[in-house]
Amino acid sequence: MVFILYFFACLGLAAAASEPEPGNYQHQSFLKNDDPFQQNFVATTVFGRRLIDAELAEPLALLPPRFSSRKFDDDYPYEGIGTFAHLEYVECTESKFDIGIVGHPFDLGVSYRPGARFGPNGGRNGARRLSPAAGWDMDHNGVNPFRSWAKVVDCGDIYNTPFDKLVAIHELERGMKALGKQTPQNTSAADAVRLIAIGGDHTITLPILRALHSTWGRVAVLHFDSHLDTWDPKQLGGGLTRHAEVNHGTMLHIAHEEGLLSNHSNMHLGSRSSLFDEHYDLNNDLRCGFSYIRARALDQMGVDKVVQKIIETVGTEYVYLSVDIDVLDPAFAPATGTIEPGGWTTRELLAIIKGLSDAKLPIIGSDVVEFTPIYDNAAETTGIAVSQIILEILHWMVHVPVKKPQA
Ligand SMILES: *[C@@H]1O[C@H](CO)[C@@H](O)[C@H](O)[C@H]1NC(C)=O
Ligand SMILES: *[C@@H]1O[C@H](CO)[C@@H](O)[C@H](O)[C@H]1NC(C)=O
Repeated sequence: MVFILYFFACLGLAAAASEPEPGNYQHQSFLKNDDPFQQNFVATTVFGRRLIDAELAEPLALLPPRFSSRKFDDDYPYEGIGTFAHLEYVECTESKFDIGIVGHPFDLGVSYRPGARFGPNGGRNGARRLSPAAGWDMDHNGVNPFRSWAKVVDCGDIYNTPFDKLVAIHELERGMKALGKQTPQNTSAADAVRLIAIGGDHTITLPILRALHSTWGRVAVLHFDSHLDTWDPKQLGGGLTRHAEVNHGTMLHIAHEEGLLSNHSNMHLGSRSSLFDEHYDLNNDLRCGFSYIRARALDQMGVDKVVQKIIETVGTEYVYLSVDIDVLDPAFAPATGTIEPGGWTTRELLAIIKGLSDAKLPIIGSDVVEFTPIYDNAAETTGIAVSQIILEILHWMVHVPVKKPQA
């Protein structure tokens, strides 16, 4: 018995000695507690616990009710209204911010499984476990990307009609232009706001690139996807109407024809799709300014060589990052429109994105697309992967502030 008491006394001393220094934003209440009763570890465990009312200044029944939804960023993960990572939801055309999460509920351009219009809210649901109140990150030197120099907000969704694909695409472009014109909140770091779009099917990358062009000019698109998406509309869906030509497999071809892409610095990463033709698709892809690293090449190259190859290819160009969730293996992202077995793991993708951030490639915008929640499982595997990829992109944007090109 004496020995046991001695053990607990030592435990109490050790706990006191290793009390961490409070960080800038950390909850002081987590770190120190002025109540002398609660400072005593042994006394507050099951061994010495008193009745709950005795620990409170007032009996529970007299305390006012508390509502956490007034201040999202202090929510517990399962509480509150479903914004991305419990971020503040603001009217982004009327308020200042630096980085905005914005939904594109659009899926009029899909060829196989429909339902990506529910992706934005699926992604937000997957991000419930993320929170500014606990955002300091072991993989990023303890940086909390929600509480850095940048004001990060959830801008909600851009309205677009479900009845006409071409009109909807124009509505998404207009929405992105309106958001992109906003003055950032912290102009000492960056002179333009940046947006991370949650799709939506992959067609949305076209209106986004159109909207970004006036600010950034031609950009190098890093396209993580199992498919090429530079398909000539004649090969995929064309020959019928203007509406059929614009879809989630042709948007990068169209972006090239419109002069939105860098001439030679675009890349597909994680490619593994079948082609419509022995030569034409790949020749057309090269003509559109793309090179590629196939999914299986990662086994020989490893993450570091993949990152190195991307850095060499991009050179000094501005980077637009487009992540089709089907770049991941269906084991890691089953809930997507056009699944292709044999893809990368979530960890591999996150490590590659981190490598590009470490190399300080200037990222000016991003999307994560083709998440179709209806095909997800009860564990929300895909939605949670989507939210983690967005978090990794957010870290990159915080790590690398960018300035607009000089006129
Ligand atoms: C603005 O950004 C700079 C870093 O570029 C940072 O030092 C400063 O604290 C930021 N200002 C605010 C109000 O967060
Ligand atoms: C890219 O291609 C366009 C069209 O051919 C050309 O006008 C432009 O000068 C090229 N840009 C660079 C940097 O080579």
